[in-house]
Amino acid sequence: MKVLVINGSPLMDNGNTALILTPFIDGMKDAGAEVEVFYIKKLKIKPCEGELSCWLRTPGTCILRDDMDWMMGKLAESNIIVISAPLYVDGIPGPVKNFIDRLIPRGNMTIEIRDGRCRHPIREGSRQRPIVLVSSCGFYELDHFDPLLAYMNAWSRNVNSPFLGALLRPTGPMFRAMLEAGVPFDDVFQAAREAGRQVIATGQMSSKTLGAISRPVMPREDFVRMHNEKVAEILESLSAK
Ligand SMILES: Cc1cc2nc3c(=O)[nH]c(=O)nc-3n(C[C@H](O)[C@H](O)[C@H](O)COP(=O)(O)O)c2cc1C
Repeated sequence: MKVLVINGSPLMDNGNTALILTPFIDGMKDAGAEVEVFYIKKLKIKPCEGELSCWLRTPGTCILRDDMDWMMGKLAESNIIVISAPLYVDGIPGPVKNFIDRLIPRGNMTIEIRDGRCRHPIREGSRQRPIVLVSSCGFYELDHFDPLLAYMNAWSRNVNSPFLGALLRPTGPMFRAMLEAGVPFDDVFQAAREAGRQVIATGQMSSKTLGAISRPVMPREDFVRMHNEKVAEILESLSAK
């Protein structure tokens, strides 16, 4: 089982999202998966130019030459795609969206009705694979992820692939600060690892396991107060310089 992981945080392995992604990858490897990680920040992926050569003049091949040339091959070899990215202004970071947009050559320009909706057929040979999301955000409430989850669901349906679910960590920066201050989050990391084992062994992740990853780390009022105190502290230390 080959897993293609797209790490879309500009902070890569040092990001808050990676705190959840890393044990998730470990769990997938525990279950025997072969995992390859690619960092959007290190890849040259130009934005789609929208002139549709990939559907008309050179069907299946993009007019642009960059790292998508070989990333398409990596995608073709994989059995599961993991998109790991922070929540940026209620959605997916732009460079990750560029990557997803550039997968358009995998479809055809014709339209078919699939599951009651207009869709572009997937090009012959473009085997579909399940998709998993790993994300973290700054705010407290889990529903900040709703627009991103709606997008991931829509994209998965669009490319005729099952969306297997999401590992979501709200209060990402606070989670990291508490971890660095010595608060143990072994239960959260164990749940992320367990989700990795589950997805490879069963093709699913239990809602109990996913819920454990997203669990609150403190009451909301304490979160807001501590966050604002920290911001005031940083601003004061910067102005003293
Ligand atoms: C440009 C930008 C936009 C962001 N937008 C949101 C947002 O809409 N909602 C939210 O809860 N957090 C938002 N955040 C906070 C990040 O999602 C959060 O810090 C996340 O844990 C960063 O993950 P990373 O360290 O893996 O990059 C934003 C951060 C940045 C830099």
